[in-house]
Amino acid sequence: MLERLDRLPPDPILGLMAAFRADTDPHKVDLGVGVYRDDLGDTPILKAVRQAEQAVLARQNTKSYVAAAGNPGFNQAMERLVFGADHPALTDGRVRTIQAPGGCGALRLGAELIRAASPDSVVHVSTPTWANHIPLLSGSGLKLERYPYFDPATGGVNFSAMMGTLEKLPARSVVLLHASCHNPTGADLSEAQWRELLPLFKSRNLLPYIDMAYQGLGIGAVEDAFGIRLFCSELPEVTVAVSCSKNFGLYRERTGSLHVVTQTKAAADAVLSQLVRIARSIYSMPPDHGAAIVHEILDNKGLRELWGDEVAAMRKRIQGLRRDAVQQLKKFHPQRDFGFIETQRGMFSYLGITVEQVRELQSRHHVYMTDDSRINIAGLRRENIEYFAQAVAKVLAPR
Ligand SMILES: Cc1ncc(COP(=O)(O)O)c(C=O)c1O
Repeated sequence: MLERLDRLPPDPILGLMAAFRADTDPHKVDLGVGVYRDDLGDTPILKAVRQAEQAVLARQNTKSYVAAAGNPGFNQAMERLVFGADHPALTDGRVRTIQAPGGCGALRLGAELIRAASPDSVVHVSTPTWANHIPLLSGSGLKLERYPYFDPATGGVNFSAMMGTLEKLPARSVVLLHASCHNPTGADLSEAQWRELLPLFKSRNLLPYIDMAYQGLGIGAVEDAFGIRLFCSELPEVTVAVSCSKNFGLYRERTGSLHVVTQTKAAADAVLSQLVRIARSIYSMPPDHGAAIVHEILDNKGLRELWGDEVAAMRKRIQGLRRDAVQQLKKFHPQRDFGFIETQRGMFSYLGITVEQVRELQSRHHVYMTDDSRINIAGLRRENIEYFAQAVAKVLAPR
């Protein structure tokens, strides 16, 4: 039976990682993989995580199962982190949270929930969106469509085109939004634009499905959750998928949460019962370790402060690299305005060069990025920004 299966082409990002590892040039620069890196090029374990991990392990006296919905202390701490402690949806008892295996697990759980509620739902995703959104959401059987989002001419959001499409969606369409640090473009909705979207979602009965994978890495933990907090206080139903991979540096521990806001407490209880059933039918129980660490950090004043400082340091480093990259690109290639890199947020930007130029950067200059010219800003280092900008200028220079 299994002999009938065709061999699939390798995932492009994994191919890029392998090519980078095999490259022996000392100048090589990896801007491909979406993990945070420090100035030494490492993806370190945060100090707060190390300390919390020690406390968790010292206290732990069993490896018995926790629960299909995960660690209740983690779920509540995540609710406070994402919504803010006094959020009306929380105080009204209209939010239900389930711990998930990473942001990906949360996205899939939410998609399965939507499918259980309304099997013919269509999820509308931004053009472009994070490549993995497509299999994660459509794998549940939901149909996907696209709405215009990124404007390559400005490096920002083409808000009028976005509104123009969303205005025409049938009622009860699902719209996937990135809370902040849009992956892959770095182009975020402003607070004014979130406010402008709100009446549209209300009047057309659209269900927002908000993905937050970078809380704290854009402007700040509160600012990055602005859209979530606004929509969840004003709309009857919202679905929110959260990842702790980047801001806690817990990638391989698979830590995330799904938060669902409903109109009534009874609906919220029904939703949670469905989520537990879905979790049981896919993986039964989420992995505990990362969630136990996040719970420890968020509920311990000292650790929480330390974590806040560490997230702020990551954010400032990214913002500094964005500034420096713009300066260096201006120095070596003044003909083109790369100023958009500084106004964008989070780890990613589109450089806006052709596939041929991307390939040339890799083959001649050992600078690695995905074919769409998405760069992970955190992959740059102070010592190689100049090299990077020079290489970009060389492939852009007319021959
Ligand atoms: C936009 C977006 N959503 C969700 C995720 C989920 O990540 P994870 O499943 O590793 O927590 C990522 C990770 O890269 C992401 O970029």
